[in-house]
Amino acid sequence: MLTNYYTEHEPQSTFVADQGGDVVGYVTGCLDTKRFLSTMKWRIVPVVLVKALLRGTLWHPQTVRLLRANLGLWLKGGHRTGPALDDYPAHLHVNVRQGFRGQRLGQRLVEAFCKRVRAADVRGVHAGVSAENTPAHHFFEQLGFAELQREARFRKPDGSDDILYTIIYGKRLADGSGEHFT
Ligand SMILES: CC(C)(COP(=O)(O)OP(=O)(O)OC[C@H]1O[C@@H](n2cnc3c(N)ncnc32)[C@H](O)[C@@H]1OP(=O)(O)O)[C@@H](O)C(=O)NCCC(=O)NCCS
Repeated sequence: MLTNYYTEHEPQSTFVADQGGDVVGYVTGCLDTKRFLSTMKWRIVPVVLVKALLRGTLWHPQTVRLLRANLGLWLKGGHRTGPALDDYPAHLHVNVRQGFRGQRLGQRLVEAFCKRVRAADVRGVHAGVSAENTPAHHFFEQLGFAELQREARFRKPDGSDDILYTIIYGKRLADGSGEHFT
């Protein structure tokens, strides 16, 4: 459910780092998060729900606990209803395999993605990073991203009521009239 949009609906926005035929890193995302959200809502999530119903996984105790803890948070939509969508319509996820980090692969992947965003004259890009993930904060700040906002993203389904926060980072890339930022 989490990757279907990227692989099936907008594969042009995914780039991989390849080492001897092995994928050791990727950046995936989309140019238009509103289109992503609408496709998720009307095409992807309903299919997943039907499959989960047919397979009986929807009523698995772990799924029920997860949904009970988080449905309220997720329905609010967080940054996906706020300024991040207007000025930073694209979004990305980046991941480099352990053992291959610190070699500028993440930087090159994000730069490849940003090049595509600029070429499409999309105003900017955002990315959500868990508040505890300080290496990724340094990474995005080093690449010229700035913190836009913090939001509650996930409540642990262990009954503790602990909430995990996400920081939304954004970077402006174009002004929508063909003018690009570095
Ligand atoms: C975040 C991540 C993608 C960085 O990839 P990477 O290939 O290791 O990063 P790079 O080598 O391109 O680093 C570029 C710059 O980011 C900063 N940076 C990267 N990793 C860092 C770390 N662990 N601590 C501090 N700064 C870091 C550095 O400033 C670095 O530049 P420098 O080497 O000149 O100092 C990688 O650590 C990862 O996959 N983490 C797990 C997934 C994740 O957290 N994704 C982000 C949320 S979408």
